[in-house]
Amino acid sequence: MTTPADAPVSDAEVLFVLGTRPEIIKTAPVVRAVAATPGLTPAVLHTGQHYDAELSGEFFRTLDLPEPDVRLDVGSASHAVQTGDALVGIEDAIARRDPAAVLAQGDTNAVLSAAVATSKCDAVFGHVEAGLRSGERSMPEEINRVLADRVADYAFAPTPDAAANLAAEGIDERVHVVGNTVVDACRDHRPIAARESTVLDDYDLTAGEYAVATAHRPRNTDDPERLRTLLDALDSRDYPVLFPLHPRTENAVAALDVELSGSLVPCDPLDYLDFLDALANARAVATDSGGVQEEASVLSTPCLTVRPSTERPETVEAGVNRLVEPDEVATQLDAIVADDARHDAMCGARDLYGDGDAGERIAAVVASAL
Ligand code: UD1
Ligand code: UDP
Repeated sequence: MTTPADAPVSDAEVLFVLGTRPEIIKTAPVVRAVAATPGLTPAVLHTGQHYDAELSGEFFRTLDLPEPDVRLDVGSASHAVQTGDALVGIEDAIARRDPAAVLAQGDTNAVLSAAVATSKCDAVFGHVEAGLRSGERSMPEEINRVLADRVADYAFAPTPDAAANLAAEGIDERVHVVGNTVVDACRDHRPIAARESTVLDDYDLTAGEYAVATAHRPRNTDDPERLRTLLDALDSRDYPVLFPLHPRTENAVAALDVELSGSLVPCDPLDYLDFLDALANARAVATDSGGVQEEASVLSTPCLTVRPSTERPETVEAGVNRLVEPDEVATQLDAIVADDARHDAMCGARDLYGDGDAGERIAAVVASAL
């Protein structure tokens, strides 16, 4: 069959696989950049790992993302079921849509499924945020990162350090250092958040006079003693600590049956604009989140990471993030709150993750390779 010379050349599809809150936030800038690239058209597959509106649907609206083109419904389940169900669904989507490339960001089970399904279909897989390593193989995310990077056709490393981690594993030819899309997301949404968010009024907070905390890692939520120690620390400060609860944490706190009536201000997961505004105006943040560690450095908010290791060591080396145990949170938070010099020394590394053009760089690499 011949194609008329003047027939429109159809765009090559770039299929984005995502499943959880942080992936929606950090993938959105790449989807936008691909949509703006001649010859490429984005499509989104949502595995359904996160399904509550406040972890998923609301972010599509806030980030101005179109509704997913493909929805799986893997929901909450064991790692095997979550990964296996997504693997089947992604394989089917690739067979039907024949995308020119499949991209996935980060280290969740959705990323592992995307990496395996795509490489087994002999399609092109790009891993966004490649090369992060905590060295802690007991975390499922570390396994997901290592395996996704191993099969990636494009490894989009956010920093030279991440590229060096890949090189140490013999992965160097298909690596592109592009920055972290978290900066793109902050750059696009921080000004809107500053204009539109009412989060400080909503929770009766004064800029610079409260802390934020988040926790959702099984190490912290599924160990009752660790969780109790963390909650005691956050609930006994003499300043408010805004604590948006991930559902995993909400369930774990409910099971502990503790009374939280002190400084802790628990709330439902916040919309992205409200979270950005709360984080930017906080005196400090205590967290075990990956994305929040990065955002804290971008927004110049001192960060305490309640974990024994981090795959974001550049924040620690720059002095804007400290690894702490739950029983150190109270004294470390108080020190930042009370001591201006200590506080100021922990907020000077805005540019660790690039200039906010990671999405465009990724789109350009994909376009030129196709
Ligand atoms: C997952 C990712 C983690 C990421 C986090 C972002 C993996 C292995 N883990 O962890 O890397 O940092 O997302 O937030 O991929 N739940 C709800 N509603 C939802 C989703 C979950 O109530 O919409 C509850 C369920 O009780 C579920 C629990 O949260 O069992 C944990 O959810 P799951 O997606 O398995 O892991 P996360 O802790 O969210
Ligand atoms: N976040 C949010 N609302 C909240 C808590 C976090 O919008 O109540 C955002 C935050 O800005 C960051 C992302 O969620 O971009 C981090 O997600 P999470 O901590 O769930 O996952 P991780 O980054 O650890 O994988």
